[in-house]
Amino acid sequence: MLILKEQTAKLISNAVPALFAGATLDTAELAAMLEYPPDAAMGDLALPCFKLSRTLRRSPVQIAEALAGAISSDSFSKIEAVNGYLNFYLDGKALAARVLSKIAEQGDSYGSPNCGGGKTVVLDYSSPNVAKPFHIGHLGTTVIGHSLKLLHSFAGYNCIGINHLGDWGTQFGKLIVAYRTWGNKEEVEKGEIDALVALYVKFHAEAEKDPALNDAARAEFAKLEAHDPENIALWKWFIEISLREYQKTYGMLDISFDSYNGESFYTDKMPPQIQKMKDMDLLTIDDGASVVNLDQWNMPVCLILKRDGSTLYPTRDIAAAVYRKDTYDFEKCIYVTSAGQSLHFAQWFKVVELMGYDWHDKLVHVPYGTVSINGAKLATRTGNVILLKDLFAQAIDKVRDIMEEKNPELKGRDDIAEAVGVGAIVFYYLSNNRIRDINFMLEDALSFDGNTGPYAQYTYARTCSLISKAGTEGAYHAYDMNEEETALVKTLATFPERVKAALADYEPSVITRYALDLCAAFNRFYHNCQILSAENEKVRATRIALTAATKSVLGKALELICMKKTEQI
Ligand code: ARG
Repeated sequence: MLILKEQTAKLISNAVPALFAGATLDTAELAAMLEYPPDAAMGDLALPCFKLSRTLRRSPVQIAEALAGAISSDSFSKIEAVNGYLNFYLDGKALAARVLSKIAEQGDSYGSPNCGGGKTVVLDYSSPNVAKPFHIGHLGTTVIGHSLKLLHSFAGYNCIGINHLGDWGTQFGKLIVAYRTWGNKEEVEKGEIDALVALYVKFHAEAEKDPALNDAARAEFAKLEAHDPENIALWKWFIEISLREYQKTYGMLDISFDSYNGESFYTDKMPPQIQKMKDMDLLTIDDGASVVNLDQWNMPVCLILKRDGSTLYPTRDIAAAVYRKDTYDFEKCIYVTSAGQSLHFAQWFKVVELMGYDWHDKLVHVPYGTVSINGAKLATRTGNVILLKDLFAQAIDKVRDIMEEKNPELKGRDDIAEAVGVGAIVFYYLSNNRIRDINFMLEDALSFDGNTGPYAQYTYARTCSLISKAGTEGAYHAYDMNEEETALVKTLATFPERVKAALADYEPSVITRYALDLCAAFNRFYHNCQILSAENEKVRATRIALTAATKSVLGKALELICMKKTEQI
């Protein structure tokens, strides 16, 4: 009964053949047609029967009435035909018994669609460009990517997280020139990535005035490609400094990767793929460059080799995909980047298809919109960036202030402030459909009163404190539940469906919004019902069980969207 729509769809499809001269309907299609009506008076689930008129050759009213007369189930207290809609009213008692026992029994795995079967999913996310700042533009790929990894693991997939570091390219030539001209070892060791970024920014400012610097940078990168030992040593050092910095941010988010194989890793894996393209006559020469023509698919050419024979971003991605398929035999390989790269992915996915790799349809690009903060856009080259670590630090400070005011006695405040502050940013970010551009308003994200991370953390902490005061997880007893209790049960019942939807659409925000729905249902219940001092033992034990179930499901939801939850706040 927990996948409400699916179960209801099954009841309907079972009833159809006898009513409509042997007609059959697909359960999955029916499940997709079922709606949650906006108003409880119209039932808990509804089937708009006009969607079936064509197939069943009856009017919506006739279909709804025939079905209402034929379907019965313990799960529903009433099934009614109203104006061509078939409305289902869940039986609160039956639902509560099932949902609460499922959650108690399955604990942490309640809600898992269990569809992974140990198959491998590779996720390519975060992937910053070394020696460039880790700014808020990377927040999206980092938290969407990691949340998708958590969701797939939850569903039973074997997940491989890859940080495809941008550790190769002309920016290293620029950095080497800048370092030798204006930098020194002590300063860079001390200033870490900030010192590298400052050098990078200085290079661009100076190159505006003196274009010869660009030639020097190209020459240094060519030396690096030719394995010049000094340049290789510098390059390794730049990467090490950058990684040290990224690790701090990943640590705050509890993120780790299974592989840090960046772009440079694929240097020796490209030539066989380029040869294959040549052998298959896929390459044409365009202004000296080797490209794959994609006219037929209404896309610009995909660049494979520059005039000077050097490789490009798509070349590396193609070689990386082949390597990953060989190494991990993935069921899916997911790439999370800004929507600005959508064309890049569409192009090279097509090239992989033209190369005859039959797994091309297992490559998935998951794009997301742009971020600005309090209205300001970002640009790396001018140094006008907001670093993720600064944003986190600001959030943590503000949360610490709020907590000092609200709860001066709290122990372990620093850790809690970090979990709540960082979580506030993540939660706010993941509240929107990923493809929408977002303007980050820090004040809004940190508020304890809105639909925010702190509010969700606060609700979670409330369930923890109730359970610890009760000293038990409670137990379900049948009685006529009131409106708030029933609404909470129904919200708990929809978690598995939401998890499925989040996976199907690669959309963590489905879980964020679910967490908010659950918080709202729980807080209404909390404010309107006595829990620990309920009127009798049966009601008390049931309400404690409802609280324990909320704690478990809300905790899981928060975990799935990369939040560190806290038992106290
Ligand atoms: N380093 C790239 C960037 O910051 C993102 C890499 C995404 N992954 C990939 N396989 N292309 O724009």
